[in-house]
Amino acid sequence: MTILNDWQAMYAGDSMGMLEALWNLPDQCARAWELGLATPLPPGRDVRQVVVTGLGGSAIGGDLLRVYGSGRLSVPVVVNRDYVLPQFVGPQTLVFAVSYSGNTEETLSAYREARERGARLVVLTTGGRLKEMALADGVPVITVPAGIAPRAATGYLFIPTLAVLSRMGMLSGVEAGVEELSRHLQSLREKYKPEVPLDENPAKQMAANFHNRIPVIWGASGTTEVVAQRWKGQVNENAKAPAYWNVFPELNHNELVGFQYPPELLQRLYIVILRDPRDHPRVVLRYAVTREIMEKAVAGVTEVTATGRDGLARLYSLIYLGDYASIYLAFLYGVDPGPVKVIDRLKASLAGK
Ligand code: PA5
Repeated sequence: MTILNDWQAMYAGDSMGMLEALWNLPDQCARAWELGLATPLPPGRDVRQVVVTGLGGSAIGGDLLRVYGSGRLSVPVVVNRDYVLPQFVGPQTLVFAVSYSGNTEETLSAYREARERGARLVVLTTGGRLKEMALADGVPVITVPAGIAPRAATGYLFIPTLAVLSRMGMLSGVEAGVEELSRHLQSLREKYKPEVPLDENPAKQMAANFHNRIPVIWGASGTTEVVAQRWKGQVNENAKAPAYWNVFPELNHNELVGFQYPPELLQRLYIVILRDPRDHPRVVLRYAVTREIMEKAVAGVTEVTATGRDGLARLYSLIYLGDYASIYLAFLYGVDPGPVKVIDRLKASLAGK
């Protein structure tokens, strides 16, 4: 029997409770909204830019905000994954400093710089040095529950930013979007959960497509791009395997040409096209033509379309599928999806220098 049909073995092999955290994501999103409503707002009104500074699992919420906010916010959202901030950051910038552990050195450095530049700050963290500094500086802190992996906490690390922006009058209609999101995820988890066997479970089938192959995930600019990035990161961290991502229409102008050599290695690639019902009609045409051009070169191509009415539900409908698939892929490789010992080792080694 495949491990994917042995749900007890999967729960037993999941030392950090990644499956449980995924099951709880709908509640996490609802609680995250409440956390964002309860936090004090940073002083001042005239915000010209929003910056989300963080790394890895703490940064992806910034990309979700950037994509979700692009048609709704009248100011740009920039995601900063670095020690330093862009030059424009100043008193009219709202900076969300996000670190699940509160101890990521790049984020601590960017936080200090935001303070020096007089930016309006809000911190999202479980604690650590970041929380200590923010409390000492009188900066609003959204303290999120500890005990799960940062990448399992996207609800906590993203949705409070929506609540803050709503309360500052910069976003509207988000509450209904969060409610739909929770409901939609509740129905999707019934399809993706470990107890649903492989032949009825799209997340397990996606993991089987990826097994012993290199996933290549393609999204579209402005809609599913952040989901493609998320799938790639989740395959890396959960399954401890490589994966790559790109976006339409840009990939039609370079990456597409690269599916000719070496043919035997190309046969180990598996491509997923992540679609959204609101993709630009010309991009939709590009999906079909692109598929026709490169389908025979690779092991397989599949398309998945986001479901849900509001943009939040649609983004998370695809994220949820990728999160489950990456965890099932971990079990196919016989690894525990939770621990990321390589990142831990790297951080420990840098901390000593
Ligand atoms: O998923 C992970 O563990 C990483 O991507 C972390 O999120 C990243 O290293 C940053 O750490 P933190 O989220 O604690 O700031």
